[in-house]
Amino acid sequence: VPDWTAWPFGVENPYPAYRAARERAPVQWNERVGAHLVLSQEHATAVLRGKDWSSDPRNNPQLLASLEEAGSAEVFGKSLLTSDPPTHTRLRSTVNRFFTPRAVRGIHDRVAAIVNAALTPLLEGESIELMGELAYPIPLAVIAELFDVGLEGAEVLGAETPMLARGLELDPAAAEREEIGAAAMRVMLFLVPIVAQRKVDPGDDLLSALIHPPDGGVALEDDEVITMCLLLLAAGHETTANLIGNGAIALFERPDQLDWLAQHPEHSLQAVDELLRYESPVQVVSRVARDDLVLGGVEIRRGEQALVVLGAANRDPTHHPDPDRLDIKRSGASHLAFGLGPHFCVGAGLARLEAQETFVRLAQSLLRPEPGSWSHRRGHSHTFRQLQALHIGHRNLSEADVMHA
Ligand code: HEM
Repeated sequence: VPDWTAWPFGVENPYPAYRAARERAPVQWNERVGAHLVLSQEHATAVLRGKDWSSDPRNNPQLLASLEEAGSAEVFGKSLLTSDPPTHTRLRSTVNRFFTPRAVRGIHDRVAAIVNAALTPLLEGESIELMGELAYPIPLAVIAELFDVGLEGAEVLGAETPMLARGLELDPAAAEREEIGAAAMRVMLFLVPIVAQRKVDPGDDLLSALIHPPDGGVALEDDEVITMCLLLLAAGHETTANLIGNGAIALFERPDQLDWLAQHPEHSLQAVDELLRYESPVQVVSRVARDDLVLGGVEIRRGEQALVVLGAANRDPTHHPDPDRLDIKRSGASHLAFGLGPHFCVGAGLARLEAQETFVRLAQSLLRPEPGSWSHRRGHSHTFRQLQALHIGHRNLSEADVMHA
């Protein structure tokens, strides 16, 4: 069972420590942590793609026991994220169709409207807390819209999702067990009657599609529908919010790149992918070896855990020259911020769209905080590149700001 108190990389700026460790060995057993650390893009890719690796913690009884103790196994233990084929394949087929490029294009205007509604009032104020006022509300409004649960739904989901997302931490605190369970319970109590209603009166929303799959697809059982909703909520919210928050800091530090994005919104996709590479919202994912194997010269036994450090792989100089430099004009090399292989992020297209709209709108707003005029607070998460707050004050509002607003 990993001992996260021995995690060697810290949370404020883990990148120099990632680099030093990767230079020593791209794959290494860490005795104190109690897991293999995978730090290079090549080896991370091999694990995420490989059939020798499982996402199901049941393949390591001690790991399962620790997740059970922390309460997250109860909520997400039988979800898409923690299952292997054939269960994974069946669950995945029910959601894939909702997140196809075509489906995402279909909600483009709604996402743009949500971003606009969230950002416009902020440009009139003197100071902003960007996480609470922009970064968290945007993905929340989008998912509430996909579920079609209205304003009341958005309020319930908004209140519970941050604690729910704690259930996806690889190192959930046992102390939070009850709170994670209670948050999940409150979301369930809210969703159960809605699921019952959509059973008899389906709409064209995501919930209805899970219950009544179009074109004769496989329908989910009631409890699977609820688990899938909890996962979509938790997986889509914390990650997208942190992309927006960390991305904003990275761009404020490079106003030249913010200006370039304002002038070249047509390159927003490549800009977002660079921000994902530079500040990977999910820093670490976990796998368990299904068999004895060798990776990067290291012998790995069946049942041992690998912690794939996406944040380190995304700054691997072999794939990303000058990796510690943000360059939104960079294109080409693919990053691992959305994972890879069978568990590649379901919501990648949607998250990219939300981020493209937000960053272009932010860049064009001419909000250019002076260096030192913002401050942030990070959470203690090792799993997420978590920003709890980003205060921006003393902005020099120009006329152009006001006109844009
Ligand atoms: C910037 C935003 C996001 C990032 C960086 C991100 C990252 C990831 C990563 C790294 C994985 C793979 C985990 C693994 O291999 O163990 C994943 C899976 C997943 N993501 Fe995302 N995600 C984001 C947004 C979203 C959104 C918006 C949704 C849905 C609304 C979503 C839903 C999911 C689901 C359901 C899975 C599980 C897929 C599976 O196990 O087959 N994510 N995400």
